[in-house]
Amino acid sequence: LLTGLGNGFDVDRLDEVTASQFPLLVGGGVGTPPLYGLCKKLLAECKEPRVILGFNTAAEVFWQREFEVLGVPLTVTTADGTQGVKGFVTDAVVPLEGKYDYVYACGPEPMLRAVHALCEKQDIHGQFSFEERMACGVGACLGCVCKTTKKDAHSHVNNARICTDGPVFEAKEVEI
Ligand code: FES
Repeated sequence: LLTGLGNGFDVDRLDEVTASQFPLLVGGGVGTPPLYGLCKKLLAECKEPRVILGFNTAAEVFWQREFEVLGVPLTVTTADGTQGVKGFVTDAVVPLEGKYDYVYACGPEPMLRAVHALCEKQDIHGQFSFEERMACGVGACLGCVCKTTKKDAHSHVNNARICTDGPVFEAKEVEI
């Protein structure tokens, strides 16, 4: 077991970039647990986070109670409508437009892509934590790259390794 690899969500960065007071935390499936510790940190910093968690079906919903105990506004979505809002996390994010000023997201790539597009549309900053299959976990195999918005001297897109450069990236530095 290799642990302690890569980076994590950065709470200080939120103040550096936007002085955000109302961060939105969006998690999909197994992207839920990383948001829990983050949510507690944000509350300790006197922020007012909202949380949206998305699952396929009611039987897969977990940690709802844990977030409720924190006392934060929480929306659960299920793709089949068996619990909470029917649909995907974006169905719960769109109605909140104007009520958040920074986004933390963790989940599968299609979810990140959809949330990223909403951030781009509103010019909102955030941090996205990527899920990826990792063969080595230490930056050697290049099996986990994602595209960044950074270009090299020849205008070629720079790739980043999710295992060592991430898994958390600034929303504006990645192409999803
Ligand atoms: Fe090998 Fe990331 S898993 S470089």
